[in-house]
Amino acid sequence: MTVSVGPTPVHQPPNGSGTVTPAQVLRPHAEEAFAAELAALAAQDDRPRPTRWRLSPWAVATYLLGGSLPDGTVITPKYIGPRRIVEVAVTTLATDRALLLLGVPGTAKTWVSEHLAAAVSGDSTLLVQGTAGTPEEAVRYGWNYARLLAHGPSRDALVPSPVMRAMADGMTARVEELTRIPADVQDTLITILSEKTLPIPELGQEVQAVHGFNLIATANDRDRGVNELSSALRRRFNTVVLPLPQTPEAEVDIVTRRVRQLGRSLDLPAVPDGVDEIRRVVTVFRELRDGITTDGRTKLKSPSGTLSTAEAISVVTGGLALAAHFGDGVLRAGDVAAGILGAVVRDPAADRVVWREYLETVVRERDGWADFYRACREVSG
Ligand SMILES: Nc1ncnc2c1ncn2[C@@H]1O[C@H](COP(=O)(O)OP(=O)(O)O)[C@@H](O)[C@H]1O
Ligand SMILES: [Mg+2]
Repeated sequence: MTVSVGPTPVHQPPNGSGTVTPAQVLRPHAEEAFAAELAALAAQDDRPRPTRWRLSPWAVATYLLGGSLPDGTVITPKYIGPRRIVEVAVTTLATDRALLLLGVPGTAKTWVSEHLAAAVSGDSTLLVQGTAGTPEEAVRYGWNYARLLAHGPSRDALVPSPVMRAMADGMTARVEELTRIPADVQDTLITILSEKTLPIPELGQEVQAVHGFNLIATANDRDRGVNELSSALRRRFNTVVLPLPQTPEAEVDIVTRRVRQLGRSLDLPAVPDGVDEIRRVVTVFRELRDGITTDGRTKLKSPSGTLSTAEAISVVTGGLALAAHFGDGVLRAGDVAAGILGAVVRDPAADRVVWREYLETVVRERDGWADFYRACREVSG
């Protein structure tokens, strides 16, 4: 369990005996999971580092995009996509503008934000999760009421938000799903980002951001009906749009890599290269998402769900678990069919029709897909 009060997160043992190591944690933070890569980069990085940065911008980009170091250390790619996007994102963090990662769901906004914070500041945990209920205290500061009542307002009774801690320590703060946060709470970020100051009127004090402070926000550009970003706030950000994977090969590559990583941490069987099943899942997702078959011949209706790369990753990971526990350890059509159905059919009426039509007109006719068609028919009822 991570307790996020105090300057550094503390891993608390569940029963008071011993300490929880990163290896025992279900999902270690990026800076823990990739500690070896980050240390190797820091050791071999001889380019200039902005104040309080753990690495140079070049090394941060290498950490995200992958590469190999002079001593042979291999840096695994975290983000698979255009290099320029990563370069612009990293550079922005070294300026006085904050970074807004924008994109449809599942385009790795959260993932990139976590890895950027880990590489730049060595800590990805200074995080505010944006929801419709995010209060101002989550962005500014709150109070420890026991101390406040006992001793009155003081720095001791103040509970800093992750953003306040990042300002004071010159670190990277993260705000997830910025546009879900109510507009008046969003606006508290304007002073923080323009004046680099967080006033504490109760104490007649302020916290001034020190060098190294910046903020990465993520927002979903499909979030309709939620709070738009005010233009005043938008001006404080450089916006970087994360695209969907451009080619099927790129998407298969992303899914295969991530499933491998996830599978290792869940003790699932290894994924051999170029698994047909991953290719088929990605093909189905892309065709339904694009509303047209890969060969460009058949127009399709798109279902209501997003069918993102992230969902393809979950479907394949779930399929691997089925294959491991109830199959012969080899990923087959029958292992992914139920997952695909669940991802495609979100609206039980309309999406089911779309799915049926796709199955009968496209999947059924496709060479070498007979087993896949059968498996999908079986779960579709
Ligand atoms: N281009 C990409 N490169 C690497 N991983 C990706 C890419 N696109 C999606 N993913 C994977 O998808 C998963 C979900 O991404 P996430 O950051 O939660 O999406 P978002 O915040 O945009 O909705 C992550 O496991 C991430 O590794
Ligand atoms: Mg996200």
